[in-house]
Amino acid sequence: MAVNKQNHKSSSRLKLLLEKRHIWFAMLSIAAVLAVYPFVVMSSSSSAPEIVPPGGSHNGENVEQPIEFPHNTHVKDNGINCMYCHTYARRSKVAGIPPTSKCMGCHKVIATDKPRIQKLTEYWEQKSPPPWKKVHDVPDFVHFTHEKHLKRFVFDQDFPVENVKEVCAFCHGDVENMTVAHKVKPLNMGWCKTCHINNGGPGDCWACHK
Ligand code: HEC
Ligand code: HEC
Ligand code: HEC
Ligand code: HEC
Ligand code: HEC
Repeated sequence: MAVNKQNHKSSSRLKLLLEKRHIWFAMLSIAAVLAVYPFVVMSSSSSAPEIVPPGGSHNGENVEQPIEFPHNTHVKDNGINCMYCHTYARRSKVAGIPPTSKCMGCHKVIATDKPRIQKLTEYWEQKSPPPWKKVHDVPDFVHFTHEKHLKRFVFDQDFPVENVKEVCAFCHGDVENMTVAHKVKPLNMGWCKTCHINNGGPGDCWACHK
C-alpha cells in the first residue's frame, strides 16, 4: 500500500505506468507461484524428506574387551540385524548391549570349541556379564537419545528396518565390517550441530544440554 501512495505522489506519468507494470508483473508472478505451490507441497509430502548423512571422521583405537566380539561374523557373514542385539535403540535413549542369555541362544551349540566361546560360557555359568567397555561415550552434560534419531531416519521414512545398519552407520561407521567395535565418527558438538542444520534437528543449546 505504501508503494501505491508513493505512485500517486509521483508527478511523472510514465514512471507511474512503469511502476504499475512492475506491480502487475509482480502480481502475476505471485499468482503463478500460488498456482504451482499446492503441487510442490503435494509432491514433497508424498515422498519422505531427504536425508543428508553427516560427514567427518575420527580415528578411534580398538577398545580392549573381555572377549573380542566380531561384528563382522555376526552381521555380515550371518545376516543378524543390529537391532536384534541392540534391542533398545528404537525405543529408548540407549541402544544397549545384549545380555549373555541372548548370545547363549546360539552359542550353547554354535562354535562351542572356540576359546572365545568357552570364555563366554564361563561368564554365563558364573552369572556375571562380560564387563564390556564403552566405545562411544559423550559427556554426561550432553543429552542424546537413540529413539528420536531412529524414529526420524527409519520409522518416519518408511526406511526398511532390515537396512537399519545404514542409519547406525551415520554415527558409528561401518560396524558390519569391524572385527572389534571402534569409534570412527567425531560425535562432538560441531558434528552433531551440522547434521541438525542439514536435516532439521533442534539447534538450541537446551536441546542437547538439559
Ligand atoms: C543368532 C545366532 C548368534 C547369536 C545370537 C550370537 N552369535 Fe556369536 N556367532 C554366531 C555364529 C554363526 C558365529 C560363527 C561361528 C563359526 O565361525 O563357526 C559366531 C561367532 C562368534 C565368535 C567368534 C568365535 C571364534 O573364535 O571364531 C564370538 C566371540 C561370538 N560369536 C560371540 C558372541 C557374543 C558375545 C554374543 C552375544 C552378544 C553372540 N556371539 C551372539 C552366531 C551367534
Ligand atoms: C550378535 C549381537 C550383536 C549384533 C548383531 C550387533 N552387535 Fe553391536 N555389539 C554387540 C556386543 C556384544 C557389543 C559389546 C562389545 C564391543 O563393544 O565390541 C557391541 C558393541 C557395539 C557398539 C559399541 C558400543 C559402545 O560401547 O559404544 C556399537 C556402536 C555397535 N555395537 C553397533 C552395532 C551395529 C551398528 C550393528 C549392526 C551393523 C551391531 N552392533 C550388531 C553385539 C551385537
Ligand atoms: C545420530 C547418531 C546415532 C545413531 C543414528 C545411532 N547411534 Fe548409537 N550412539 C550414538 C551416541 C552419541 C552414543 C553415545 C551415547 C552416550 O555416551 O550416552 C551411542 C552409543 C551406542 C551404543 C553404546 C551403548 C549405548 O546405548 O549407549 C550402542 C551399542 C549403539 N550406540 C548402537 C547403535 C545402533 C545399533 C544403531 C542403529 C540401530 C545406532 N547406535 C544408531 C549415536 C548414534
Ligand atoms: C544424521 C544426522 C544427525 C546426527 C549425526 C545427530 N542428530 Fe540429533 N537429531 C537429528 C534430527 C533430524 C533430529 C530431529 C528429530 C525429530 O524431531 O524428528 C534430532 C534430534 C535430536 C535431539 C532432540 C530429541 C528430543 O528429545 O526431541 C537431541 C537431544 C539430539 N538430536 C542430540 C544429538 C546429539 C547430542 C548428537 C551428536 C552426538 C546428534 N544429535 C547427532 C539429526 C542428527
Ligand atoms: C546438537 C547438539 C548440541 C547443541 C545444539 C549444542 N551442543 Fe554443546 N555440546 C554438544 C556435544 C556433543 C558436546 C561434547 C563435545 C565433545 O565431547 O567434544 C558439547 C559440549 C559443549 C560444551 C563443553 C565445552 C566443549 O566445547 O567441549 C559447552 C560449554 C557447550 N557444549 C555449550 C553449548 C552452547 C552454549 C550451545 C548453544 C549455543 C550448545 N552447546 C549447543 C552438543 C550440542
